[in-house]
Amino acid sequence: MNERNVVATALNQALSEHLSVDDILNLLENPKTAQHGDVAFPVFSLAKVMRKAPQAIAAEIVENIPTEAFEKVEVVGPYINFFLDKRLVSNDTLQAILKEDANYGNTTIGEGRKVPIDMSSPNIAKPMSMGHLRSTVIGNSLAKIMDKIGYESIRINHLGDWGTQFGKLMVAYKKWGSEEAVKAAPIQELLRLYVKFHEDAETDSSLEDEGRAWFKKLEDGDEEATNLWTWFREESLKEFQHVYDLLGITFDSLNGEAFYNDKMQPVIDVLQEKNLLVSSQGADIVDLEKYDLNPALIRKSDGATLYMTRDLAAAFYRKENYDFAQSIYVVGNEQSIHFKQLKAVLNELGFDWANDIHHVPFGLITKDGKKLSTRKGKIVLLEEVLNEAISLAKAQIEAKNPDLANKDQVAHQVGVGAVIFHDLKNDRLNNFDFSLEEVVRFEGETGPYVQYTHTRCASILRKTNFEAQEGADYSLGDTESWEVIKLLQAFPATVVRASEKYEPSVIAKHAIQLAQAFNKYYAHTKIVNDDSEQQARLALVHAVKVVLKEDLRLLGLEAPEEM
Ligand code: ARG
Repeated sequence: MNERNVVATALNQALSEHLSVDDILNLLENPKTAQHGDVAFPVFSLAKVMRKAPQAIAAEIVENIPTEAFEKVEVVGPYINFFLDKRLVSNDTLQAILKEDANYGNTTIGEGRKVPIDMSSPNIAKPMSMGHLRSTVIGNSLAKIMDKIGYESIRINHLGDWGTQFGKLMVAYKKWGSEEAVKAAPIQELLRLYVKFHEDAETDSSLEDEGRAWFKKLEDGDEEATNLWTWFREESLKEFQHVYDLLGITFDSLNGEAFYNDKMQPVIDVLQEKNLLVSSQGADIVDLEKYDLNPALIRKSDGATLYMTRDLAAAFYRKENYDFAQSIYVVGNEQSIHFKQLKAVLNELGFDWANDIHHVPFGLITKDGKKLSTRKGKIVLLEEVLNEAISLAKAQIEAKNPDLANKDQVAHQVGVGAVIFHDLKNDRLNNFDFSLEEVVRFEGETGPYVQYTHTRCASILRKTNFEAQEGADYSLGDTESWEVIKLLQAFPATVVRASEKYEPSVIAKHAIQLAQAFNKYYAHTKIVNDDSEQQARLALVHAVKVVLKEDLRLLGLEAPEEM
């Protein structure tokens, strides 16, 4: 039972007439300073029903609650401050972690129901952008978080492998490209063609028309267009795979936009059936005025379908195939309107599951304060960033621990970990400016710092050959260990909070706090001191190692034993 539950249960004994345990839980606060205890209960809201001054109410409550679980219960003004029995809580928490190991914090909230997570989803024939990296690592972390609380995540890479841009690319390829050039460096060459197309299209408007015509050919199954498309797609996928391999991320489905080509007619049919499709300037749209949204474009005047049409087909498909509890889309904030429209159309169709669709937006990565744009060729190449981070990690290891056995593997884990953690540590909606030096910084609130703390625990445990013993007393009563214990105990609730907010940063912040609290403990306390509490201190080290590793795993980082 966590500390808040202990307090709420005790309070309920005196307050059951006025408040339920849940009401009490909602009122509990975390005091800002340790002087005010571990949990505080404000009594203001009871003043009306109990018709007494807050101080009197607080005093009365304290007289009527069981106090064995607490070191001290104090009334300060209108607050009751609870000081938990450190020895009791530390023993319970450490026993639980030692017993459950990596399963500590697992719950069955999701009841095994499926949660498709639309993530990464880069556009074929363009380099994977920093935005797609964000979607990949946020989605990967959310998948692990949802799995931990009992859902079954399904990672879907909704590849941008369809749309007018392929028509444009075909035009550019036929005008200015060659097979050899694409084969030699696929993404660079396709990007060059794409950028040239847009440069020239600024002065030559016929190019856009040609592009549209080629896309129409593709949608109609023209052989030349289809062959070019298949080839561009394969070459691009190969390059994306390098990035996924570096990150160690896999997908359950690569069903991208093209997958829905033969699945859009049913969408159009049902929209028509329900009289939702109206024609406007030759195109078919769904009016969303009552949602204060622009109309959703379903079909263009030339019959071509759109991004929205494919997303509707994908939503139908996912509901039918996965019967999802929730359907998550990890896509940049700039597409918020699109997902509002998607939900609104599903809502118009009368599907109550429209409410289970969640767009999980994230902020922009800028460079020198400006947006990175593929069209202008301004991009940061992801593979380069990851490789650079790995070589910087390698250099640090060479300098600090040259005899380390598996240097390359650890450099990989640390370098990639730095990039992932840097992305996940702030609220996902924050924008941030990209700087390689910042991304691969290893000191301060970084992934490598958490990984390093994990290796510190591993090293202590190796040197002392610690082994957990059943029935041993793992109670600790000092204030330094208490800061660590509180964070260990908060872990299960932290995972749930991260899942409710779709926010990996909640886990990243927990990892940083736990690492900092442990390092402070380590600096103040002689862990190996051959006294009666040594086993309890080692149990704490072991528990910190387990939970840090689990924090890192949930973020998509490895936890090396040595670095
Ligand atoms: N390919 C799109 C882009 O890069 C993202 C796709 C997101 N997923 C979706 N179901 N719309 O902008």
